[in-house]
Amino acid sequence: MEEKLRALSAAAKKSLENGANPEELKVKYLGKKGELTAVLADMGKLPPDQRKAVGALVNSVKAELEALLVEAAKNAEDAKLEAELKGPKLDVTLPGRSIRPGRRHPVAQTLEDIVAAFGKLGFEVAQGPEIELDWYNFEALNVPADHPARDMQDTFYVGGNVLLRTHTSPVQVRLMQKQPPPIRHVMPGRVYRKDSDLTHTPMFHQVEGLYVEKGTVSFAELKGTLDAFAKAFFGSSVKTRFRPSFFPFTEPSAEVDVSCTMCGGAGCRVCKQTGWLEVLGSGMVHPNVFTHAGYDAGTVTGFAFGMGVERLAMLRFGVGDLRSFFENDYRFLEQF
Ligand code: DAH
Repeated sequence: MEEKLRALSAAAKKSLENGANPEELKVKYLGKKGELTAVLADMGKLPPDQRKAVGALVNSVKAELEALLVEAAKNAEDAKLEAELKGPKLDVTLPGRSIRPGRRHPVAQTLEDIVAAFGKLGFEVAQGPEIELDWYNFEALNVPADHPARDMQDTFYVGGNVLLRTHTSPVQVRLMQKQPPPIRHVMPGRVYRKDSDLTHTPMFHQVEGLYVEKGTVSFAELKGTLDAFAKAFFGSSVKTRFRPSFFPFTEPSAEVDVSCTMCGGAGCRVCKQTGWLEVLGSGMVHPNVFTHAGYDAGTVTGFAFGMGVERLAMLRFGVGDLRSFFENDYRFLEQF
């Protein structure tokens, strides 16, 4: 038995020296089914006179093994720590990644400001679908299938008579179909055209306006309303100019210019030396539009207007390329 104990102790020490895992050795020798535990259990079979001496030996071997195992475990722990310290450093003083506060997109800001300016003049807000029927986008607005005005608004066809609307004007018709006069609404939203260059993107935003009453709405009211809007949006010193124009859905029609926001009207590169910037289209609603919408063209009159939001945002913020609004470059967007 003594022999066995010494052999056991030697084998355990040897395993430790060879780098065996201390936890595993503990189970192997001192665990419930461990080898040393088995020797202890056999003690009862010894003649009484030998028990004391062998017992003492077993206990000393056990104590020695336990001490060795504890030390080996500690050494392994130290080695691990040492390796971590020598390895790549984790700099706990580096600042964390902060969450960047968001902000309104410059086009959204501009759109909100336009709607707010008309809100002060008593205009409510209405909306219509971006996927629209040919009838609302063209026919109802006095643009029949063979009308040359369609060329300027080539769009994306979903199929059949369904298309992506080229302007917000169809919302005028939908609104009038839904409610009787008076109407005093602005209609903001996305529109689509087959265009892409410095000043055009295939998707952009417009704000439409419609003012209709039973009785007589005058061209003077159209001028007064749009002049008040221009001053609210660009500043009180801005001047407006109305030029005769053509839109199939208004008669007469006018294009509205504001005095150049860059040079104040003196003439510069932005206004191409004219002192004026074109900002929107407008006119007195054509009787055919009223008829298509189900209104009595003999008793109602009104004016309408439409403007491009990106164009106004470019003028207001001095942006030279309209496409940059949609490139999602933080360096650009963070300036607004
Ligand atoms: N729908 C026109 C366009 O996209 C803009 C426009 C012009 C709207 C005159 C109107 C208007 O309501 O009266 O070019």
